[in-house]
Amino acid sequence: MGTESKDIPCKILGIGSHVPSNIIDNNKLSERVDTSDEWITTRTGIKQRCFANEEEATSDLAFMAAQNALDDAKISPNDIDLIIVATITPDMAFPSTACLIQHKLGIPKVTSFDVEAACSGFLYALDIADGMLKSGRYNRALVVGAEKLSSIMDWADRTTCVLFGDGAGAVILSREGDGPRLIGFNCGADGSNPSLLHQPAGGSLMPASEKSIAARGHFLKMNGKEIFKSAVRVMEAAATDLLISHGLSAKDVDHVIPHQANARIVESLSLRLEIPLEKFFCNLDRYGNTSAASIPLALDEAKKASLFKPGQLGLMVAFGAGLTWSSVLVRF
Ligand code: ACO
Repeated sequence: MGTESKDIPCKILGIGSHVPSNIIDNNKLSERVDTSDEWITTRTGIKQRCFANEEEATSDLAFMAAQNALDDAKISPNDIDLIIVATITPDMAFPSTACLIQHKLGIPKVTSFDVEAACSGFLYALDIADGMLKSGRYNRALVVGAEKLSSIMDWADRTTCVLFGDGAGAVILSREGDGPRLIGFNCGADGSNPSLLHQPAGGSLMPASEKSIAARGHFLKMNGKEIFKSAVRVMEAAATDLLISHGLSAKDVDHVIPHQANARIVESLSLRLEIPLEKFFCNLDRYGNTSAASIPLALDEAKKASLFKPGQLGLMVAFGAGLTWSSVLVRF
């Protein structure tokens, strides 16, 4: 059965998360944007989201989540020898957010870098960390998904600004020790239509200028309808291919932790995969779409709710700008 029986899988030794304390519900948002609780709830399932304040950056959220994961794993920062942060909202273009939290956490001078695969970023980072740990050159990895999406939200675009929130989640991975085992990975991307979901300005193609600011190019832009259709299609394929490659089927899955973008996307995925909606863990009603943070944030909450029983099979599945997609199987 694929890597489950052949490899010694990496284990999740600890999980942690953090969201900012500033909670904005749909009614509060409607004071600033021409929208309503009814529209947002029926179109997306989102009821509220958390926003960082002006002084807080992505690394501050990542630091808190990482600290909580270290505490959960009961290990010291000195035990970490690899840091990977998935984010599309780094504190700055460079240095990486991983380097910033390495210093903040007091972790020794270890390999640290960021991964940018949008909402699939955390699962991409898990895949990379798994491979690096299995190379034998690293022992314990800190893998974080963290975002301050409020820093790239366009308040003049009501079709996008109602969807997103800020937050962070983190796990400690190791080949040694006990914990849920990562037993399968599937990542992919289709870069043929990048403008479906992008932040056009601020890179080498369109550096910051008066023109880029006037064009509101430093904000996230999205073709919502097309993203919706692609999301369901690529997540179904990513999940199905991975299950088949491990000799498993949808019936074997006990829990699905999907990227938390939209309740209607989750419902469509449930129908297509023929996995009952009750098996999907969702907290997007409280946090909105937190991109790379959404899956570790959900994983942490589900674990704290004692949802996972030993021996059960979990499926994490995501899609994001790129388009990127990823699925990961975990045996609890
Ligand atoms: N409040 C009130 N009305 C609104 C709002 C709003 N916030 N936004 C749009 N509308 C209006 C539109 O103006 C339009 O009005 P009209 O019919 O008079 O022209 C109407 O609502 C319908 O607008 P649509 O854009 O067609 O709405 P749709 O049903 O497609 O829903 C949505 C929009 C929720 C964005 C949907 O397309 C969607 O969920 N797409 C997927 C987005 C997603 O999940 N992205 C996650 C990826 S993010 C990542 O990877 C980083």
